[in-house]
Amino acid sequence: MIRVTRAYRVAASHRLHAPGLSAEQNRALYGKCNNPYGHGHNYRVEVSVKGPLDSSGRAIDPAALDRLVDETILRKFDHRNLNAEIPQFAEAVPTTENLGREVFRRLLEAWPPEWPVLEKVRIAETDRNIFEVSA
Ligand code: NI
Repeated sequence: MIRVTRAYRVAASHRLHAPGLSAEQNRALYGKCNNPYGHGHNYRVEVSVKGPLDSSGRAIDPAALDRLVDETILRKFDHRNLNAEIPQFAEAVPTTENLGREVFRRLLEAWPPEWPVLEKVRIAETDRNIFEVSA
């Protein structure tokens, strides 16, 4: 089996704020990430697939993967405000854990059944904050 990882960039803004908590509780829980006007990240999003080699000597056609990621993820998330523009984050707090789960869910939903397995989504929010979601 071969694992292939492609990396993408998503610039987006968010604010960590749990609707069920008071302003004070949110400040205590999320600190500066709760600042009312939000802040941005240049997320590095890695998509890993695992499968056997095909007759072209590859495990997946990278151009086909790029098209799928572009349609389902980049066009929806890039240069967006996650809280305001992604319906799932009207309620769920757009932590990078939750962003990773949502990216994984959307990829899985659009994933062609004949493709190699979607193994993992890894998102680096910053150099020091890295999150992985696997099946
Ligand atoms: Ni943040």
